[in-house]
Amino acid sequence: MIQIAILGFGVVGSGTAEVLAENKKQIDAYCGDEVNVKYILDLREFPEHPLGGRVVHDINVILGDPEVVLVAEMMGGAHPAYDFTRAALEAGKHVVTSNKEVVATFGAELLKLATEKGVCYLFEASVGGGIPIIRPMQTDLASNEILSVSGILNGTTNFILTKMKNEGAEFAEVLKEAQAKGYAEANPTADVEGLDAARKIVILAALAFGKLLDPNRISTEGITKIGRDHTAVADKLGASVKLIGHTERIGDRVLALVSPFLVSSANPICHVDDVYNGILVEANMLGRALFYGAGAGKLPTASAVVADILDILSRRAGERKLPKWTPATETDVASAEELVSRYCYVFEGCAKCAEKAKAALQGEECVFLEGSKFAVVSKKMTRKDADAAICSTGLEPLFSLPVLD
Ligand code: HSE
Repeated sequence: MIQIAILGFGVVGSGTAEVLAENKKQIDAYCGDEVNVKYILDLREFPEHPLGGRVVHDINVILGDPEVVLVAEMMGGAHPAYDFTRAALEAGKHVVTSNKEVVATFGAELLKLATEKGVCYLFEASVGGGIPIIRPMQTDLASNEILSVSGILNGTTNFILTKMKNEGAEFAEVLKEAQAKGYAEANPTADVEGLDAARKIVILAALAFGKLLDPNRISTEGITKIGRDHTAVADKLGASVKLIGHTERIGDRVLALVSPFLVSSANPICHVDDVYNGILVEANMLGRALFYGAGAGKLPTASAVVADILDILSRRAGERKLPKWTPATETDVASAEELVSRYCYVFEGCAKCAEKAKAALQGEECVFLEGSKFAVVSKKMTRKDADAAICSTGLEPLFSLPVLD
């Protein structure tokens, strides 16, 4: 029997127990032995749950039990999740996690420690919920140079944006629905302000380029300012407003940002709705590949946690190659202003102003909206150049959005 422990019995933790129970036959067959949850660490008791008797409140019970070979951490938050992860790796136990905050903040150090200890630290569920994206980037795309990664990385905000667009729903109401469905973070500010997506794009950037950026320092804008005007512009241009995490290399430096984008209808991400995530990886040999699926939710996310458990338990120790990440220094990081893209600026003014803005932005498109509002889409240029061009006209945009083609 292979003994494992679950840390945190919330949405994903209890989902992991459910996946292990529901698919027990095939899971045991895959691992060549019976997989058993020996302990569940949580502050609460779960007397009604079939595994309620396995609940412990002291991490040392798990750390001190040599039978436990693997710990699945689904506590959320940085502490004590990071501290327990370190302690478990130090104790020679494999760790799998869905905790993007810990991976994005401490991933470089934890991967190094795991490698030194000859154990695994896997985090498939930390990005894209149930979508296999981490393992394909590490293994199947190892023959490629990754050029860029762009994606809808937060299920909650995509759910909100879709409902706002299709049903004219109110922001607060849809957020409550996303919370009830178990999509949103304990503190949904991390979803709506873009921090959750920032953590995820930082993880994808590290997988692509080997540098772990600080998720709190990349340019991050959420969806709280998105309203009817944004949707109206998107409709006129045949695009969708989506919260996008994007990373690419600029020379030797890594650019990563999170922002609402206008996604052109030609880009498959434009059509990724509801709680689904869509991650477009551009690689030098493969070209573009889209990874699509449920980006949040109990069982999809738990299925990714269990995939990591199976990956580890079905191999001999030491067979799994872990990535090496270096914490990024100031000189490794490119500014969001350097992103070359088309940019859409929205103004209020006369037809003459529209001509002026179009000329300054060497614009390809100009559409007129309700009242005297209009939108101009620039040719491809850096954000810095686009802003400078608009500034030189003396026009003040109401807002602007980068375009993802
Ligand atoms: N709150 C996250 C989301 C959960 O909505 O995408 C999955 O990481």
